Amino acid sequence: MTEDKREPLVLAVTGGSGILYALSFLEIAQGAGVSVHLIVSAAGETVARHELGPEGLKSLIELADEVHDPENLAAPPASGSARWRAMVVVPCSMGTLGAIAHGISRNLIQRAADCFLKERRPLVLVPRETPLNRIHLENMLRAHDAGAVIFPAMPGFYQLPSSIEDLARAFAGRIANHLGIPVPWLEQWKGLPEE
Ligand SMILES: Cc1cc2nc3c(=O)[nH]c(=O)nc-3n(C[C@H](O)[C@H](O)[C@H](O)COP(=O)(O)O)c2cc1C
Repeated sequence: MTEDKREPLVLAVTGGSGILYALSFLEIAQGAGVSVHLIVSAAGETVARHELGPEGLKSLIELADEVHDPENLAAPPASGSARWRAMVVVPCSMGTLGAIAHGISRNLIQRAADCFLKERRPLVLVPRETPLNRIHLENMLRAHDAGAVIFPAMPGFYQLPSSIEDLARAFAGRIANHLGIPVPWLEQWKGLPEE
């Protein structure tokens, strides 16, 4: 598969639960030949270590084409001039969602998201929290109205996943599919089987 490597994708991992979605998404993007620039927040690193173990965090970092320090506001994703295919924040913590929704560009993830919105480039936020308070809901609406796609971490069960990895992969496949990244194994729903 030969995708255009010249327009890389920014993958931001923040401190929400569900880091497996990020790893699965990265594997899918790499498999499709899409170059990925990774930014992991400090809290994202903590949660990744907890949910995937040190090896999982290592594979996340090793799979990326480039890794940026979340505190480096001079890194390429901080500028609106660079050409990017899309930015995905998965998982997106309520803290990062709030910062993006209010234009508070205090770290590279928040600043990059701000640039994607001002340049009208695709920005997909995958929030993970439950239950949601009014602030969360309003922030999602603000981000949506500013141009982001709110893609909640709500995996479907109707494809009958056989494991957590399968479930995460199918959900990550949906994100990739939404961005036009080829996911050959992602089945299109053809209705319920006949009884
Ligand atoms: C194990 C663990 C799981 C967490 N899960 C969530 C979550 O699902 N959603 C969320 O919004 N915050 C969650 N948090 C809290 C965030 O990590 C915290 O608010 C952090 O400041 C977010 O920072 P960041 O957006 O810069 O990554 C979790 C924290 C820990 C330690």
